[in-house]
Order: sequence, then C-alpha cells, then structure tokens
Amino acid sequence: MTVKAHTRREFLQHAASAAAFGATALSGLSAFATPGTAAPIDEHARLIPYGSAARADALATDVAYREAIVTNCDIVVPEGEMKWPDIHPARDQFRFEKSDALVDFARQNNIEIRGHTLAWYGGMPAWTNDIASRGEAEGELVGHIETVVSRYRGDIASWDVVNEPLIDWPEDANSLRPSIWTRQLGPDYIPIALRTTASVDPATRLVLNEYDVEYKGDRFAARRMALVQLLRALRDRDVPLHALGLQSHLFADRVFDRDALQAFLRDIVALRLDVLITELDVIDYELPGDIGQRDARVASIARDYLEAVCEVVRPRAILTWGLSDRYTWVPTWFKRRDGLPNRPLPFDADLKPKPLFDVIEDFRRRFA
Ligand code: G3I
Repeated sequence: MTVKAHTRREFLQHAASAAAFGATALSGLSAFATPGTAAPIDEHARLIPYGSAARADALATDVAYREAIVTNCDIVVPEGEMKWPDIHPARDQFRFEKSDALVDFARQNNIEIRGHTLAWYGGMPAWTNDIASRGEAEGELVGHIETVVSRYRGDIASWDVVNEPLIDWPEDANSLRPSIWTRQLGPDYIPIALRTTASVDPATRLVLNEYDVEYKGDRFAARRMALVQLLRALRDRDVPLHALGLQSHLFADRVFDRDALQAFLRDIVALRLDVLITELDVIDYELPGDIGQRDARVASIARDYLEAVCEVVRPRAILTWGLSDRYTWVPTWFKRRDGLPNRPLPFDADLKPKPLFDVIEDFRRRFA
C-alpha cells in the first residue's frame, strides 16, 4: 500500500515557500553528516554531536528548559510523543500535535531530530490487542510506519525503528520479547519494519536500539551474544540497517565488563554498523546522598563507560535520556530510599551543568 502523503515538511514548505527549510541548513551538527557535506567544518562541527530526549509539554511551558535544550543540544529525540500510545491511540486515529510541535521546534532551532520508536513491545495501545491475524498485523505495522515516517520524511535524520527486541536474558537471537508483533509475525516483524521504513524514507538512518550490554554477568554476556547474532542475521539477509543504538542506562551498582563490551563493539564494527549512544543516564539510587560525592560518582561511571566505547568506535552521537534532573524517568523505577531526588542527567533540576556534562563535553572533543 504505497501512500504518497505530503510530508509535513512539504506542507510547510508550500505554506512558507520552502527555501528557508533547506535540509542541510537544518542540522548544524548531524550524527550522520559525512565530512565535507555539512557546513564548513568549524571546531564545533567536528565534535561528536550531543543531544537529549525532550518532552513537548515541558518545551511548551518551561522557557528555561527550552532555552537549555536550544543552547546545548545538536539533536533531540521525543521521549514519548512518537510512540504508538501517543501518536496512534486508536486504530484509525493518528495524533500528531505533540510530535509536530517537537519537529517544528527542532527545525526552528536548527536542531536535528531523531525518531523513537516504530516497533517496540512497550506501552502498546490497547486496541492493538485486537489484532487477530498475521495479515492484519503486517497491515497495521506497515500502515503505521508509512503514515508516521512519510509525514516526517526529510525532517527525521534517524529512526529507532526497532526498540528492545530481545528478552531480558536471551538464549539466542530468536529470544525475542513477546509482543503483538512477535505473536502475529514472529521474528519477521524486524525486517518488515526496517524494509518498510527504508522504502518510505530512503534517506533516514535505520537504528536498532537495545540496552544492558555493558556489564559483567551471564545475563549481559547472553545479551551481547544474542544481539550480535540478531544483527549478523539481518546483515546476512541484506535487511537495511545502519546503526546499533546503545541505550546506555548505566547502573552505579553494577560492574562494567570492559573487555567483553569492547569485543562486542568490535563485532558491531565488523558488521559495518555505526554506533549511537541513544539514552545515556546514570541510575543513582544506590549512591550516597551527598550531592558532591554522588555527582562525582555519576560522572566517573560515565567516563569509564565512554572511555571503553570510544576506544573501539567513535559514536555517531551521544544522547542522554533527558537534559535535566527536572525531567527524568528514573524516579519512576529507581526512586531513592532516602527520598532524595535522583540526579542521573548532565544538568541538575535548576538547569546547572554537573560534572557529567563536563565528561560528555570532554569525549565529544577528544574523539571528534
Ligand atoms: O501520556 C499519559 C498521560 O495522558 C497519563 O495521564 C499519564 C498517567 O498514566 O501517563 C502518560 O503516559 C506516560 C508516558 O510516559 C508519557 O509521559 C506513561 O504512563 C509512562 O509509562 C511513559 O513512560 C515512558 C516509558 O518510556 C514508556 O513509554 C517514560 O517517560 C520514558 O522515559 C521511557 O523511555 C524508555 C525508552 O522509550 C526506551 N528505553 C528505556 C526508556 C526508559 O524506560
């Protein structure tokens, strides 16, 4: 079903005589810009692009937060506004207000925007439970991707097409998270989602996004092994895919397996895949309450991790799952027993930069 829907960009271009919206002018610093195509290389343009998850409601109501995003981010990614519950709440209903607002915000501020996410088990709207056949499931998945990706064609530089495909402790690449997609389409939902996205927007970069590959332990070893198997199988079948997204939700109470992580990353590079750090934050609920100590620990955990990654591969971008402790998912799942606010992000709740911000800036420069 090929829909030649006018993209939002085309609509706005017509509305505003398109010249002002030339694609390359958009992203001052692009994760996937190949040297020589972007604007003349200045110091800034050589840095690893930095970005953050952003919330449309907060951008609309919190001026200081919005200014901090504009000042510090080369890239934004919607924390929830492009997920099925928000954008496709009912079978025949799409809701674009908040996602459009984020795309417009990015365009108006010359910030690149990533898409998150098209095929994920998490938080699927209830109506999808009524999908009762393979054909219906494929129709809904393809229809959703065609509608959403075509709307933002030319705006969205990269999509987390497939998010968190593996179960927590996989045996192998077939250990996929149960979802409406695996129930009706089995493992085929992954190539269907990737091929459909590539056909609707051949220019957008296709990312498969996963977490928990950094640490010592059998579960993490199993995840690294299964993920390489899954990506290799996609490569062997010529399924379009450009990059692996490392969510990088880091835990202060876990031990990095530096050697295993680096071996894993060498496997990813050997598969000719780029690497993005897509959702970095440091889960601090086990750290001491003292803010100075805690912020220093958060920064050193991120430094050890970024060191291990960047020694093997230059990430195409480093994104944190939020800019400021003012807006973070962490207390939802990892509230501190002492009741103190979590501090997992580069800026505190008063939008003051923290040692974590300096660490990220340092790696952006050192591995430019
Ligand atoms: O929008 C509804 C609102 O209408 C309703 O009143 C409210 C109360 O139930 O819920 C709101 O939806 C919440 C949504 O965030 C938007 O804020 C959902 O309940 C809540 O579950 C959802 O949490 C998000 C979660 O993903 C699930 O989508 C978090 O903000 C977001 O940080 C988290 O992000 C995930 C990444 O997508 C994937 N990787 C892990 C990361 C952290 O879990």
